[in-house]
Amino acid sequence: MCLVDWLQYSIYLNPAVSFCRSHCEKSQVPHLTVQIWSLIGLSNTRSLIKAVGGLIMTKISPVLRFFHPCVLERKLKTKPIKIQIDGTPIALFRDGNNKPAAVLDRCPHRFTPLSAGAVEAGRIVCPYHGWNFDKSGCGKRPFDANEAGVTCKVPAFKVIEKNGYLWVARKDVVEEVEIGEEGWDYIGAFGFESPAPLHVVLDNFNEDEHFPFVHKILGWDAEGSRHIKHTARVENDAIHVTYSAPQRKFFGMRLVGFAPKSQFNMQWAMHFNPIRASYTASFTNAEDEDVSITHSRATIFFVPVDEYNTTIHVFLFYKPVKSWSSLVMSLTKNLFLYMARKDLESDLKLHKLVSHTPYDLKGMYLSPFDKPLQYSRALLEGVYFSDKLHRGERERTGLDGREKTPHL
Ligand code: FES
Ligand SMILES: [Fe+2]
Repeated sequence: MCLVDWLQYSIYLNPAVSFCRSHCEKSQVPHLTVQIWSLIGLSNTRSLIKAVGGLIMTKISPVLRFFHPCVLERKLKTKPIKIQIDGTPIALFRDGNNKPAAVLDRCPHRFTPLSAGAVEAGRIVCPYHGWNFDKSGCGKRPFDANEAGVTCKVPAFKVIEKNGYLWVARKDVVEEVEIGEEGWDYIGAFGFESPAPLHVVLDNFNEDEHFPFVHKILGWDAEGSRHIKHTARVENDAIHVTYSAPQRKFFGMRLVGFAPKSQFNMQWAMHFNPIRASYTASFTNAEDEDVSITHSRATIFFVPVDEYNTTIHVFLFYKPVKSWSSLVMSLTKNLFLYMARKDLESDLKLHKLVSHTPYDLKGMYLSPFDKPLQYSRALLEGVYFSDKLHRGERERTGLDGREKTPHL
């Protein structure tokens, strides 16, 4: 492969990602060095410009064929908000009817982030030269004489509102995503930014062996680990898991529907179109009778921001068991939300510590509880990232894709 071919190939694999990779993984530093030398060594100016331009090329990730949650609806006010889904930067703003809209966060003129601009008369205005776009991405340039015509375009996305959240997908996507289920009452939602890659976050949420050591509220203590009953299987493109072990005591457990001296039962199914799991908790006594005040459910969506960060969006529900459960929940709803948030923050602390964990599980001494980690990789590749073109972006993860990724 000649130098220019090699360089162009590197551009297609997004050198910005390579830079981050080099920055984060010492073993990759020579890779960056070679790229820089290649850039400097080019005598052809056009190639050099093209190469540098490649640093900020932007693609629309294939995962946007699914709706993903992004921000609480109430957070989108008069200023645009920048989000990112699997490397695709998106600017959210409100159109002339105060409805949420989304366009690629890259002005087609000179690639300035539109989210850094303002919204005027329902149009997002680039902060550099004032080119401005409506909710469909149709743009106007201030110097154009023909004021009625569209003179430039930026890709737009579909935005819907559901459970107090804004959800984004490609324009052509028609299938919406289901969050709760019939009979479940909605409590509230919150989101987290995790400083770890998607697979690390999923590995954490795909096993409960960590409960006694990471969490303070959910589940059993170390002693209770000896009594875990556990199942894990793959079915219908989803991972199905159950755990059952003695619930540990904690202050105020009754107030949030946890029963003392009971068996804590957790079950979930993790789906990959998009990635989300509904964790359902209940309590039983020694006779296997249900002693829950309410059943609670956390439906959690996992959204890759880029190769190194993930957002986690949590939607909480409950199902009354006793006649007075709803009254208790209405009084303790905020406490329930607070405690759920606190317990999940414990996972986030762990994510920082394990963010470097490789995608490849080879060499790890896995426990019986780690089966879903293998299933998860199979479904990530087979369902969520199944667009083959996407694989080249993920060589770091150990997947051996070398195809070129299309850019806009
Ligand atoms: S870069 Fe956006 S208008 Fe010039
Ligand atoms: Fe956890």
